[in-house]
Amino acid sequence: MELFRKKSMDYMLKQARGKKSLQKALGPFDLTMLGVGAVIGTGIFVLTGIVAAQAAGPAIILSFIFSGIACALTALCYAEFASMIPASGSAYTYSYATFGELFAWVLGWDLILEYGLACSVVASGWSAYFQDLVRGFGIHLPQALSGAYNPAKGSYIDLMAVVIVFFLSAVLLTGVKESSKINNVMVCIKIGVILLFLAVGIFYVKPANWTPFMPYGFSGIIKGAATAFLAYIGFDAVSSAAEEVRNPQRDMPIGIISSLAICIVLYVAVSAVLTGMIPYAKLNVGDPVAFALRVVHQNWVAGFVSLGAILGITTVLFVMMYGQTRLFFAISRDGLLPKSISKLTEKTKTPTRSIILTWLMATVFSAVVPLNQLAELTNIGTLFAFIVVSISVIVLRKTRPDIPRSFKTPFVPVIPVLAVIACGYLMVHLSKVTWIGFLIWFIIGLAIYFGYGYRHSELGHWKDDRTPADPVKN
Ligand code: ALA
Repeated sequence: MELFRKKSMDYMLKQARGKKSLQKALGPFDLTMLGVGAVIGTGIFVLTGIVAAQAAGPAIILSFIFSGIACALTALCYAEFASMIPASGSAYTYSYATFGELFAWVLGWDLILEYGLACSVVASGWSAYFQDLVRGFGIHLPQALSGAYNPAKGSYIDLMAVVIVFFLSAVLLTGVKESSKINNVMVCIKIGVILLFLAVGIFYVKPANWTPFMPYGFSGIIKGAATAFLAYIGFDAVSSAAEEVRNPQRDMPIGIISSLAICIVLYVAVSAVLTGMIPYAKLNVGDPVAFALRVVHQNWVAGFVSLGAILGITTVLFVMMYGQTRLFFAISRDGLLPKSISKLTEKTKTPTRSIILTWLMATVFSAVVPLNQLAELTNIGTLFAFIVVSISVIVLRKTRPDIPRSFKTPFVPVIPVLAVIACGYLMVHLSKVTWIGFLIWFIIGLAIYFGYGYRHSELGHWKDDRTPADPVKN
């Protein structure tokens, strides 16, 4: 039963407020910006065109609505947890309280997959966009440094991915307060650019382009939704920030729900205008938003959009890296990874070593390993976490109805059950290769837990793990 030892709520709250906790510097606006920063990126600037052309046609609008609903249902569950357990670690921490240590580790390991792969995929996407932009000014990187290891194409290292990961790691080292200010500015520019696209694009919409509306039928819409799901990934990363929020009980639900709501509206609006401007079959390009503007001869606006896309993808990468550092911090503070990783820098209360570890991982993966094919693994990892969090809400309502919840998911168990069904439905539409990769990742994770985490767990060192005398005394 040791495998299912649980952390008590008191323990977690003390840990989150103790001297080994992170600096409390964020408010509801910062959280919303963090959410929008994490969500809107490659999904809107790259995927919209591909999904419309290959999977859904103009009904991509419905694909975005479907995966948006799945995410909204889950967001309500995340909001309850984040207001109840304002500690670092997101879904990993929630399952430590609900299902115990083994499950928590499995979830933590799953989130490492989500954030780790997302960082790598997004860094490669950033590099591609950036190289496109500078090519316009006649600057060409040597082929060997233009992409991940692919001798057939003559590329060995993705230099620009290395540069952006290094730059963002340096920003993270300055502390959460400064980092979030930089993030806020970049997110405002990104939203501005999207609004600019909508304001200009709407004058070029020809309703005839929306017919046929569902050229690939209902199955196309669902296939599109499973792929477009990547576009929504990130709002859950807001919950990683719980420990750094001044008033988490009030602000976490606001941050999670409002950032997702903003993104759903923008996604649906952009896909409607995009497919209204250009026949869907022509949208199979890497930069559909800028492409549509070029087709209607709005070259200047297209230039702004490309620049905005680069900034937009930068904030996605930033928040994904941020989430990864806080996850390493939380897991290592619990002893399931070496303790030294969670050491904080005195002045800024920043988990410096977690940041360095994240930097190393992201650099190696995005610079050398051609991970693009594995992007679907990010979706499966996230969907799995969403399902576990939704079930956890139902379980904790039964087992710990006494814990104060400043935000309550409405209509429990209906909303969490619908979230599980919607996410499960999207999960089964992912490919077999993705499922196999996912299982292999879990087997590696279990080996690490039994080889290291089980014996070094902080909780394992307390005689009575439910009532530790002083969980933050070390
Ligand atoms: N949601 C993020 C994006 O679209 C991963 O880039």
